[in-house]
Amino acid sequence: MSETSPRLRAELEDIPTYKPGKPAAAGGPVAYKLSSNENPYPPLPGVMETVTTAAASFNRYPDMACMGLMSELSERFGVPQSHLATGTGSVGVAQQLLQATSGPGDEVIYAWRSFEAYPIITRISGATSVQVPLTEGDVHDLDAMADAITDRTRLIFVCNPNNPTGTVVRRAELERFLDRVPADVLVVLDEAYREFVRDVQVPDGIQLYRERPNVCVLRTFSKAYGLAGLRVGFAVAHEPVAAALRKTAVPFGVSQLAQEAAIASLRAEDELLGRVGLLVCERTRVVDALRAQGWTVPVTQANFVWLRLGERTMDFAAACEQAGVVVRPFPGEGVRVTIGEAEANDIFMKVAEGFHKGL
Ligand SMILES: Cc1ncc(COP(=O)(O)O)c(C=O)c1O
Repeated sequence: MSETSPRLRAELEDIPTYKPGKPAAAGGPVAYKLSSNENPYPPLPGVMETVTTAAASFNRYPDMACMGLMSELSERFGVPQSHLATGTGSVGVAQQLLQATSGPGDEVIYAWRSFEAYPIITRISGATSVQVPLTEGDVHDLDAMADAITDRTRLIFVCNPNNPTGTVVRRAELERFLDRVPADVLVVLDEAYREFVRDVQVPDGIQLYRERPNVCVLRTFSKAYGLAGLRVGFAVAHEPVAAALRKTAVPFGVSQLAQEAAIASLRAEDELLGRVGLLVCERTRVVDALRAQGWTVPVTQANFVWLRLGERTMDFAAACEQAGVVVRPFPGEGVRVTIGEAEANDIFMKVAEGFHKGL
């Protein structure tokens, strides 16, 4: 056999591997997964029924244009269908945005730490990441991000709320930032956790997009709508960007099951958002308890909390796992813990209490 292997792109060599949240350990007395910001509620019976019915036809390709879903989204969000594009989760759509805008020599700006996929998909596109550190309070430093814009900048991600810190940027500061971004640079407002936001000063990106042709909003059915395993997300953007997204889509990427489930979820939105409301109450309970224990917890508007543990991160994650909850550690930085079932949150809080006492 030849020693020579096929030539691969050099960019791939230093791509950090995406680390999914660890699954809960099988076979333990209790095992809860608080590592992937998933929705802890099982699928709604009506959505389940829709998916089961759709499964009977999976010998057929899905509707490539996602026509039913597009029409439902267009009505729900008051945007023309030509301004919508769907994809395999919002991370799939984010990757398409990079394919559509950026290549070797181009720059992509985002806060750091933020969503783990940004450096990976940027590198895959061949473009260069420009990471702008979060402020002391773990919030996007929008002034520094605007200062980082050069004539090579093609795309800027603003993750609002930010993963993994849960922190937000508010309307006035975001608008001030958008005013500074040149019209030919695309700003992607990644709003994967939008439905969990209760701070009324956090703008709905879809309102901002209406006035600004260079703003694109990413939303997902994975979190509030509980469809993480079916892979469907979407972008709202003005026509040239949305059209570019349709060109860069993997043909038939969004399965018919995902399309039907997303439609059924939009129709069951009241019930699903009621569940989100319960998770937001749990979030308050968890954050209040952690603060009472003495922890510094940034204000979170997402379905997770962030503990900046520094060098103690891995010890804390191990203690959680031993107690029956799996959290998401970022070695040397901190842990992100999803708000889950009340029992799971109780276990996490108990570990946090013991750990804080030992500090
Ligand atoms: C900020 C952010 N954006 C996008 C995603 C991707 O979600 P999905 O591809 O499931 O829509 C996630 C998932 O964790 C996220 O945290």
